[in-house]
Amino acid sequence: MALILGIETSCDETSASVVENGNFVLSNIVYSQITKHSEFGGVVPELAAREHLQSIEVVVQEALSQASVSIFDIDAIAVTNGPGLVPALLIGLNFARALSFSYKLPLIPVNHFTAHIYGAFLPDKMNFLKKNSNFPMLALVVSGGHTVLLLIDKSKSVRIIGQTLDDAAGEAFDKGAKILGLGYPGGPAIEKAAKYGNPSKFIFPRALTGASGRAVDEEDRFNFSFSGLKTAILNHSRKNHHIMYDTNFIADTAASYQEAIVDVLIRKTLDAAKFYSVSTLILSGGVACNSRLRDKFIALKQQGYNIIIAEREFCTDNAAMIAGEAYHLLKNYTASYDFDIFARLPENKLKISFI
Ligand code: KG4
Ligand code: ZN
Repeated sequence: MALILGIETSCDETSASVVENGNFVLSNIVYSQITKHSEFGGVVPELAAREHLQSIEVVVQEALSQASVSIFDIDAIAVTNGPGLVPALLIGLNFARALSFSYKLPLIPVNHFTAHIYGAFLPDKMNFLKKNSNFPMLALVVSGGHTVLLLIDKSKSVRIIGQTLDDAAGEAFDKGAKILGLGYPGGPAIEKAAKYGNPSKFIFPRALTGASGRAVDEEDRFNFSFSGLKTAILNHSRKNHHIMYDTNFIADTAASYQEAIVDVLIRKTLDAAKFYSVSTLILSGGVACNSRLRDKFIALKQQGYNIIIAEREFCTDNAAMIAGEAYHLLKNYTASYDFDIFARLPENKLKISFI
């Protein structure tokens, strides 16, 4: 048995979690700093770091107490290594390193991005990864920083087959909401405003899908581009500035804008799923909280795919996904881990260690 304490501070959530054997989430405490950043319309890295510093001790204590364990029961500390905001990451890394030093516990750095994929298998879907017939899998990871399609083959090696060439889907939500005056974070705000809107009222661009009549280069077949959407919604708002106060207009705009993003994500996923003959489709990352995206993703089940969607608690940033993935890294633990806080998404070779 392994009890791992996970710590996550890559952006604006201070989170700590205790996970048993990579699967059983005994606690998952998330302190969100959203209210502190919303007046700035986005996350301010130094402010995030200061907030992490203020709250990390209490958050870790709460994670241990909710799991009914003490630090002496913990077998290893897992911490987000990157990618993320460097000042914010350093708070978690330092705190984790001090804990590991004081209690002589292994310290396992975890890649935030691969942990998002792992989040889809929490709290108890780990066995799914043991069945060969569930492979190959295709994972769509959509967050504020990433929009990536990954292929996980039978040998569990992972390859990026598509990613955004500019903005991530979460950024598109955040920027669109800002232009509509809906506040930060934009994803939940657009979703709420879109609830009573007509998704077909306005047509927003679906870049790199061929929808505009322009052929897509083969190399961009599974890539995304969302930066044009921002210009489109900006022009749309300027053109209609005289009715920007109208709730129906905002609802229709939000619904149509959300539809454009979701439509592209679903189309590309389905195209890649067919092309690579996958059995299973995985959805994770903060944008996977979006109900319209979840509904359309679930509907792909009718085409014969196994569908795994991260529970909302494990979509947005959380330490359970960090502690969960660390369990699989623990077996190869070496004290000389590379703490590369500038970790970027590896170009082609992405190692995911599922037992
Ligand atoms: O995974 P995450 O918490 O942080 C990163 O690693 O980036 O994702 C945050 C992103 C934000 O852009 C936020 O607007 C988006 O996820 N998001 C949503 C929803 N909830 C969060 N986007 C669309 N609909 C939502 N309900
Ligand atoms: Zn994230």
